[in-house]
Amino acid sequence: MRVLITGAAGFLGSHLCDRFVADGHDVIGMDNLITGELGNIAHLEGRKEFTYVRHDVSTFIAVDGPLDAVLHFASPASPVDYLKFPIQTLKVGALGTHNALGLAMAKGARFFLASTSEVYGDPEVHPQPETYWGHVNPVGPRGVYDEAKRFGEAMTMAYHYYHGLDTRIVRIFNTYGPRMRAQDGRVVSNFIVQALRGEPLTVYGDGSQSRSFCYVDDLIEGIVRLFERGDADPTNVGNPREFTVLELAKLVLEKSGAKSEIVFEPLPTDDPRQRRPDISRARSLLQWEPYVPLEEGLERTIAHFRKTVTD
Ligand SMILES: NC(=O)c1ccc[n+]([C@@H]2O[C@H](COP(=O)([O-])OP(=O)(O)OC[C@H]3O[C@@H](n4cnc5c(N)ncnc54)[C@H](O)[C@@H]3O)[C@@H](O)[C@H]2O)c1
Repeated sequence: MRVLITGAAGFLGSHLCDRFVADGHDVIGMDNLITGELGNIAHLEGRKEFTYVRHDVSTFIAVDGPLDAVLHFASPASPVDYLKFPIQTLKVGALGTHNALGLAMAKGARFFLASTSEVYGDPEVHPQPETYWGHVNPVGPRGVYDEAKRFGEAMTMAYHYYHGLDTRIVRIFNTYGPRMRAQDGRVVSNFIVQALRGEPLTVYGDGSQSRSFCYVDDLIEGIVRLFERGDADPTNVGNPREFTVLELAKLVLEKSGAKSEIVFEPLPTDDPRQRRPDISRARSLLQWEPYVPLEEGLERTIAHFRKTVTD
């Protein structure tokens, strides 16, 4: 297969490029580096199966030659990033998705959208099945991301029903692992970086809010299975095992051997209280479930950050 992956220089996009290249496919990785880093795909440079193209996918996308698939992963994804780039986030979720869909149509390619658990907002249903419509504040600080992704999903379904395009939508829940950026403001990378620097670990609120964390290798396996044998309806992929933020902080201290203290700060606006995927659909449709325990995933991620974090 010959595939286009947008957001290729990002955390997930780069792991996806690795997987498709390893599976014997030709990959065009596209990115404008707004939040990504070329270092994430530097090891693919020079491989004949991989081509990097610098391009903003919110503008028209031109690719020469045939394409079998378009996997649209480009978008700022962490709250720090989408608050810094609110308009670009809305544009890549709306215009970028439209451009990527148009390209898939023109090439007769399968289209795959990276959506998010944020489409559920601050959920009133727990855990969240794909049938839950969500509880989103469109004008809150997270609205730029949540609504862009909701629009992207609606656009993808419209292309599927109106044009008969072969499409997939994955709703990704919190994922962590090597190549997350130190400064992206996500809770796992925050805690690890603070621990490795010997700084206090910052917990927002009392730390009783729950999160579920999926190790990147598990997520990529779920994505590949959805791509290969899924259908057009949105599918949750994430780890349903729930931890409180305070439990995570303590585990990071244990695994890193850091002696930092834990400090508490006010909860940001619209921070979801609970987030946990119902993965019944992925289990039955894809025979997928995560297998890397948080303890092991944290060890691998801390090892990665030890190489990159300097004070
Ligand atoms: N990491 C997670 O836990 C998570 C959770 C839910 C959804 N997602 C989704 O997965 C995708 C990848 O997220 P990530 O964590 O790898 O984020 P990331 O910021 O590491 O990667 C996103 C990449 O997209 C690129 N990009 C952004 N706008 C672009 C544009 N207009 N044109 C070209 N490239 C552009 C960035 O430069 C970056 O390399 C995103 O769509 C995100 O919404 C991620």
